[in-house]
Amino acid sequence: MSAFSHQDRIVAPSVLAADFGRIAEECSRAIKSGGDWLHLDVMDGHFVDNISFGPAMVAAIHATNDIFLDVHLMIDRPDHYFPRFVEAGADMISVHVEADHEVASTLQAIRDAGCQCGLAFNPATPLEAVEPFLGQVDLLLCMTVVPGFGGQAFMTEVMPKVEEAARLRTAGGYQFHIEVDGGIDPQTAPHAAAAGANVFVAGSSTFKAPDMSAAVTAIRQA
Ligand code: DX5
Ligand code: ZN
Repeated sequence: MSAFSHQDRIVAPSVLAADFGRIAEECSRAIKSGGDWLHLDVMDGHFVDNISFGPAMVAAIHATNDIFLDVHLMIDRPDHYFPRFVEAGADMISVHVEADHEVASTLQAIRDAGCQCGLAFNPATPLEAVEPFLGQVDLLLCMTVVPGFGGQAFMTEVMPKVEEAARLRTAGGYQFHIEVDGGIDPQTAPHAAAAGANVFVAGSSTFKAPDMSAAVTAIRQA
């Protein structure tokens, strides 16, 4: 379990950008480079136009280390599939508000299963869509690209939603993390940090950097 609070800067390298043929070494490299969490992107080919990996990969990664596993489900029926990710060793499970499920009950069920729960929303989705659930979540995942693929450009236009989410968190006395995901690198992270984000998912800019430690440090210090 994570001892981190929303006042901590957390860097979560996204394994989607790792070399899948050497996944155990890649995860160790991310941890040695200072990654605080590992971000694991699960895609079903329906909710997004890509297929990544499922619970077997999460379990394999869990078996190699004890870092906090931040699982991002980009799938249509998170209510049906999330228990398999709990079983696989997830510490945090985030589901999309746009997916086909009863959001409040899925979040509660994840919590009841002993996991932290997160709610994700796409760049085009207004903050109002997630607002009713803010009292229920450990993390709010603000997509800063249209989900589906790594290596896309950061969307600055999402920052007003991050600012407003941070304001609602203070107003409501909530403690949830605000995570940004997509196009995060040492240049874009400062914008997200200024808006109020504290968890920085970074795939291409960490795993594909010439010096992964330097990249992780630069993002954390942004
Ligand atoms: C995008 C995924 C991201 C992705 C980010 O659909 O949710 O987590 O791995 O990749 P980069 O950091 O390369 O934009
Ligand atoms: Zn993600």
